[in-house]
Amino acid sequence: MQTYLRGRDFIGDLDFSKEEIETVLEVAWDLKRKRALGESHALLRDKTLALLFFFTSTRTRGSFEAGMAQLGGHAAFIDSETTQISHGDTAKEIGEIFGRYFDGIAIRQCDWQFGNQYINEVARASRVPVLNMQCDIYHPFQILADLMTVIEKKGRDLRRKKMVVSWAYAASYSKPISVPQSLILQMTRFGMDVVLAHPPEFKLMPDIMQQARDNAKKFGVGFDVTDDMDAAFKDADVVYPKSWGPLVTTTAAEEGKKLIEKYKVWITDARRMKLAKSDAIYMHCLPADRGLEVTDEVIDGAQSVVYDEAENRLHAQKAVMALTMS
Ligand code: CP
Repeated sequence: MQTYLRGRDFIGDLDFSKEEIETVLEVAWDLKRKRALGESHALLRDKTLALLFFFTSTRTRGSFEAGMAQLGGHAAFIDSETTQISHGDTAKEIGEIFGRYFDGIAIRQCDWQFGNQYINEVARASRVPVLNMQCDIYHPFQILADLMTVIEKKGRDLRRKKMVVSWAYAASYSKPISVPQSLILQMTRFGMDVVLAHPPEFKLMPDIMQQARDNAKKFGVGFDVTDDMDAAFKDADVVYPKSWGPLVTTTAAEEGKKLIEKYKVWITDARRMKLAKSDAIYMHCLPADRGLEVTDEVIDGAQSVVYDEAENRLHAQKAVMALTMS
């Protein structure tokens, strides 16, 4: 168990070693148990965390705010549009200045080929931990909650369990690729055989794919890629189908929309769920485009764990905040 994470940033999934992630999970389960029992766990009394959002959020904002309060501290929600960032405050200034006001800085900035760079620039100037609430490349806190949920549902020994990370059709907007990228990076360290399924135009970033392949080799697990959603679902223990944009192929909005519209059949419905194991779980980070990405029958059905998954955001984030900011 690695116990000294004080002062550390958490920006990319692999910033914490596998052992450090195991520590985070142990602390998360301890905090989950304490909350269930109504035991006080004010580990961050008098501490403050800036929550700087450049994009909307339901779960991330709610769970970070609630989590800081439960830890005895305070989270300050800051909508970037109400700041002077558009009038000239630089990433360096945010890091320097917020680093002097707060004990941690959490940021959501998902702009393609900018968000991760921005968060790292803030971190370089900050004297306090910087936490990534989702960027264009990673969504590390989502995946901590996902890993926690998979272990709760499938047990600690995940060897030879098959996890499908699949593209799914959605009409609402071209979503970031951070969730599937973080999933293939983190899950390949924890024993699962990961299958990534997507239409040809919805590739992930080449260096992220290479890191996932390297992890799979190092940890002795499978990592396969297919453009056949049905084949991917066959005998799966965990299915995680969600939409993402064709950003690696094109950043042109109209061209991207045309590509998305080609693949309306990539929906998770009861027929597809039957291809997976009978005790397979359905996961989604939410929000989902109901009726397009997934049918109501599946997302509201017995195999869906989406609410437990969303709850675990709270516990996983509290663990990282307590370990890095105390
Ligand atoms: N899953 C997730 O990050 O949800 P929000 O966008 O609502 O924060």
